[in-house]
Amino acid sequence: MTAQKKSAGRAAADLVTTGQTVGLGTGSTVFFTLERLAERIAEEGLSVRGVPTSIDTETKAKGFGIPLATLGEVDSIDVTIDGADEIDGAFQMIKGGGGALLREKVVASISSQVITVVGPDKVVATLGTTFDLPVEVVPFARAVCERRIRALGGEPRVREKDGAPFVTDNSAQILDVHFPGGIADAPALERALDEIPGVVESGLFIGLSHVLVIGNDSGEAETRRK
Ligand code: A5P
Repeated sequence: MTAQKKSAGRAAADLVTTGQTVGLGTGSTVFFTLERLAERIAEEGLSVRGVPTSIDTETKAKGFGIPLATLGEVDSIDVTIDGADEIDGAFQMIKGGGGALLREKVVASISSQVITVVGPDKVVATLGTTFDLPVEVVPFARAVCERRIRALGGEPRVREKDGAPFVTDNSAQILDVHFPGGIADAPALERALDEIPGVVESGLFIGLSHVLVIGNDSGEAETRRK
């Protein structure tokens, strides 16, 4: 599993060209992207500035010495490299396993190209069949959101950490929502979730990924374009 993530994360970093503004996703696969970008900066003089999608990634990128910029300092992003929890044949994704879905979606939305880095286990026929959908909610509205999500056929449970609700970088909470049988119409579900007052963002990423890099155990990666 780690070898697959490493292959994908590093292969995607090799697609970055000098002078680019690069959205830096979140998670254990992107860790290897950060590592490879740092190598290329040191070895080739690659010139990039990264826009991190989480406090965790910001900390790691700083540790690697990758120059960073905030969203206020960039008009657009050339390429974003990010992981996924599931991706289907239309490049629709579930993200948010690490809780960074809001910032990831904002960064993806202003990126000319998004490269998704995964191991083969993340590629699915139907979203929601191997991973529950993370939905970020305002704590005040959580009970209302849970009721509305149940009415949509979902089974929400509050994500916890150390016995208390998990708190996101945006001081919100996460509902992990199981949809029995999977998610038949992801765009429709995304719209329905967005209409619930109190929902900050859902982990459904529709039309946001352009390139899929799938790593394997032997250090190679397959690249698919939408
Ligand atoms: C973070 O909130 C997520 O969207 C991650 O991008 C996703 O969970 C993939 O993480 P791994 O690369 O650690 O599997």
